Amino acid sequence: KKVALAYSGGLDTSIIIPWLNENYGLDVIAVIADVGQGEDIDAVIAKAYDTGAKKAVVRDLREEFVKDYIFPTVKAGAIYENKYLLGTSIARPVIAKAQIEVALEEGAEFVAHGCTGKGNDQVRFEHAYQALAPELKVIAPWREWTLKSREDCLDYAEAHGIPVAASRAKIYSRDRNLWHLSHEGGELEDAGSAPLPTTWVWTKSPQEAPDREEVVEIGFEKGVPVSVDGMKLDPVQLIDLLNEIAARNGVGRIDLVENRFVGMKSRGIYETPGGTLIVLAHHEIETLALDRDVLHYKQHVGLRYADIVYNGLWFTPLREAFDAFVDNTQQNVTGSVKLALYKGNVSVVSRKSEFSLFSNELSSFTMGDSYDQKDAKGFIQILGLPARTRARLLAQKKEA
Ligand code: ARG
Ligand code: SIN
Repeated sequence: KKVALAYSGGLDTSIIIPWLNENYGLDVIAVIADVGQGEDIDAVIAKAYDTGAKKAVVRDLREEFVKDYIFPTVKAGAIYENKYLLGTSIARPVIAKAQIEVALEEGAEFVAHGCTGKGNDQVRFEHAYQALAPELKVIAPWREWTLKSREDCLDYAEAHGIPVAASRAKIYSRDRNLWHLSHEGGELEDAGSAPLPTTWVWTKSPQEAPDREEVVEIGFEKGVPVSVDGMKLDPVQLIDLLNEIAARNGVGRIDLVENRFVGMKSRGIYETPGGTLIVLAHHEIETLALDRDVLHYKQHVGLRYADIVYNGLWFTPLREAFDAFVDNTQQNVTGSVKLALYKGNVSVVSRKSEFSLFSNELSSFTMGDSYDQKDAKGFIQILGLPARTRARLLAQKKEA
C-alpha cells in the first residue's frame, strides 16, 4: 500500500519517510511541490530516495500558484488581521491539490503531511484533502508519534541514518515560496522581544538599504499585475522581479501577533517584498476605478476572504462565490502606479487609469455646471431630518 507525502526535504518531513515505513508499512511517494521556495529540487529528490521513499514526484506549481491563488487573493484585497498577506495560507491548498493528483495517479490510499497538531497548516492541508478526495485516508505523524521537539526529531533522524544538515542550533520554523517567507520560533516566541537582525534573511534592513530612492512602475489589467516599468512579464517573472526590487530597498517586513484558527495566539515575522508593492499598487488603481459603494462593500469581502483563506477553507463555495463577485469588480481595474521605495518605505508617486472615475472638473474648486452647489442645500436638509427631529425631542425631555 502507498502513501503520498507532501515532502519539503526539511527535517520534519524527512523523518516522516522512515516513520511511515516502520509504523504503517507503507511505500512512500514523496510529492515535491515547487512553489518557488528556491530549494535545490534535485537535492530534495535525492534526499527523498536516501531516506527511503519509493518514488519522488516533482510538480512545478509556480505559475498555477501565482495565477490561481496569489492573484485572486490580491484582487480580493484579502489581508489577515491588517498585516498578513497570507503567503503560507494560500500555498497550502495548491500543494495539497497537486499532492492529491499524484496520490490518485499512483493509486495511493493514504496522504500524509508534516504539520504539527498545533497550527493552521494541518487544517489547510486536510480540509483540501477532504474537499478534493474524501476517500483518501490522512496520516498526520506529528499528532501520532512520541517525538516532542526538534531535538527528538534530530535524535530520530540520526538513529535512522538521515543526514541532518540542519544543525541543532537551527531553531526557526520557516516557510518560503514565491510570495513570502515566514519565520516563527526562537526569540520570536516572546512577543515582547524584537526579531534579531539575523532572523530576517530575504529583505535588506532599512539601515542597509541604498541611500537613494528607487521608483518602480507596476501596470495592471483587470486587477492583475502584468508589467514592471512598462515591460510585460509573465506572472512568475513579474513577482520575482518585484521581490528583488523591494527586497533590496528593505520593503516588505511584517511583524505580527496573530490568532491561529486553533485558538491560540502566535507571533511570526513575514517577508513579502514584491507582494507588498503589488497589494499597495492594486489598491491605488481601485481608488480611481471603483465606484464608491463597490469599493466600500469590497472591503467587507476582503476581510471575510482573508478569514476563509487563513482558516484553510480555500476549496469552498463561499470562496468561489467571492471570486465571482471580485472578478466582476475588477473589469476596470486597469492602469499603472508608480511607487517610490526608500529604506523600507513605499510612497505613491502617481496613479493612472483609463477607467478613472476621478473627475478633475467635478472635484476642483472652480465652478462648473455638472455639479450645482445649490443642490447640496436640499440634499443636506433631507439628510438632516432625523437629526433635527431627535434634537427637538431631546430638548423637550430636558425641559420636562
Ligand atoms: N502563521 C502563518 C500562517 O499560519 C505561517 C505559518 C508557517 N508555516 C510553517 N509550517 N512554517 O499562515
Ligand atoms: C505547524 O504547526 O505545522 C506550522 C505552523 C502553523 O501551521 O500554523
